[in-house]
Amino acid sequence: MRVLSVNKFVSALCALGLGAVLATSVQAATDNDKIIERIKPVGSVCVVGDDSCGGAAAASTGSAGRSGEDVYTTSCAACHGTGVLDAPKFGTSDWTDRSAKGIETLLTHAIDGINAMPPRGTCASCSDDELKSAIEHMIDSAK
Ligand code: HEC
Repeated sequence: MRVLSVNKFVSALCALGLGAVLATSVQAATDNDKIIERIKPVGSVCVVGDDSCGGAAAASTGSAGRSGEDVYTTSCAACHGTGVLDAPKFGTSDWTDRSAKGIETLLTHAIDGINAMPPRGTCASCSDDELKSAIEHMIDSAK
C-alpha cells in the first residue's frame, strides 16, 4: 500500500515533469520561429525561370517585352552611352563595325559577356529578346 502510493507519487511527478518538458519545448519552438522570423533576410533573390518565387512570371512578362530603347537606357547606357571601358559607343560608327559580326553573334556575346562586357550587360531580368532589341537599338543609332 505504501509502495503503491510512492509509485503514484512518482508517476504523478513524472507526468508533471514530462508536461513541463513538453511545455518548454513547445515554447522553445515558438521562440525559434519568432527568432527566425526576426532574423530572416530583408529580401531574397529570385532567379528568372525559378517559378517557386515568381521568376517564371518575370521571364514571361519579360519576353512580352520592354522596348530596346527602355532596356538600353536602363541597363546599357551607363557603359555604351559614353564608351566606358571601350564599350562600343551609342550613335557612333563603333556599332557599324560591330554589326558586321551579325546580330546572333552580338546577342550571344551580350548574353554570355565578352571581355569587359558583363553577362547580360548586368540586366539579369532582361529576356534574350529584350537584349536583342537593345542591341538593335544601339546598331540603329549608328546609322
Ligand atoms: C559595365 C559596362 C557595360 C554595360 C552595363 C553593358 N555593356 Fe555591352 N559592352 C561593354 C564593353 C566594355 C564592351 C566591349 C567588349 C569587347 O569587345 O571587348 C561591350 C560590348 C557589347 C557588345 C558587342 C559584343 C561583340 O561581340 O562585339 C554588345 C552586343 C553589347 N555590349 C550589348 C550590351 C547590352 C545589350 C547591354 C545592356 C543590356 C550592355 N551591353 C551593357 C560594357 C558594358
